[in-house]
Amino acid sequence: MKRKLNLPIVPNSQLNLHPLSAAADSSITPKPKIFDEFALTDRVGLVSGGNRGLGLEMALACCEAGARVVYCFDLPEKPSDEWTASRDYVAKLGNNSRLEYFSANVTNQQALWKKTEEIGDIEGRMDFCVAAAGILRSGTDCLEYPAQEYREVLDVNTNGVLFTAQAAGRQMSRFGRGGSIILIASMSGSITNRGHAWVSYNSSKAAVLQMARSMACELGEKNIRANSLSPGYIYTSMTAAFLDKQPHLFDVWSSMNPLGRLGRPDELRGVVTWLASNASTFCTGSDIIVSGGHHSW
Ligand SMILES: NC(=O)c1ccc[n+]([C@@H]2O[C@H](COP(=O)([O-])OP(=O)(O)OC[C@H]3O[C@@H](n4cnc5c(N)ncnc54)[C@H](O)[C@@H]3O)[C@@H](O)[C@H]2O)c1
Repeated sequence: MKRKLNLPIVPNSQLNLHPLSAAADSSITPKPKIFDEFALTDRVGLVSGGNRGLGLEMALACCEAGARVVYCFDLPEKPSDEWTASRDYVAKLGNNSRLEYFSANVTNQQALWKKTEEIGDIEGRMDFCVAAAGILRSGTDCLEYPAQEYREVLDVNTNGVLFTAQAAGRQMSRFGRGGSIILIASMSGSITNRGHAWVSYNSSKAAVLQMARSMACELGEKNIRANSLSPGYIYTSMTAAFLDKQPHLFDVWSSMNPLGRLGRPDELRGVVTWLASNASTFCTGSDIIVSGGHHSW
């Protein structure tokens, strides 16, 4: 029996012209299209933990890629100066993109669902989501780890990631256009950071890897993709809490990857834009590790 290929319907104008077509028809002028595939023109996104650090950097990248709007949310009532400067920067890009901020706690499922539904009502679409809010507590021996702190870390890093993904995914499902859910996990979800007693963080991130696979399998039929993105050591406020107090960790952490250095937040711009865009339409249920090769050793 002949099998039917269930391929998505792509308008002719968006199809890449095959070199053979161009060879057969001299009126066809080949044009580079690869960067068009990364464009987020007119798309609407949601970023948790978007007030600073990796979340803000990723929101900014998506605006540069042409998103109509990226809604950032985070704990503070008012956004940081860095966020406000980023909003003003985006307003001057000249591509009609904008950054918006609202205050919310990722552990509050109902508040997230409600706010994101309101965004859906305003924008009429929801295309991508980056669940970047997360916390890391100082090290505690795994045999002594206090229950309350363990629950706290899992509540933000695991439950909060699910609630954020749900909030956006429900709107993606409502509008029926598909979408891309990007769960920020960590290399610590699949390796253990040598020298650090981070059992709560590591467990919370391992759960996120499986969450992405599980959501990908349930949501594939709606063309909603779910992947996890797992950074290695990047210098942000989260890691500065350790590095600034124990400067020798710069060298220790750097020596643990083949590139011999820490990563910068901007080194995640490409991968997040790729995951949010049509350049990754066949990628779902994957964990993308960006660690300078830390996990290779
Ligand atoms: N920096 C790294 O080396 C690194 C490595 C791997 C993974 N990550 C992950 O990347 C993500 C971003 O981390 P970062 O390095 O930018 O840290 P960060 O501390 O600079 O940013 C995290 C943001 O999440 C927000 N947040 C925390 N709890 C929240 C809550 N309950 N509700 C809403 N927002 C909340 C914080 O206010 C903060 O703005 C985290 O999930 C982190 O685990 C970071």
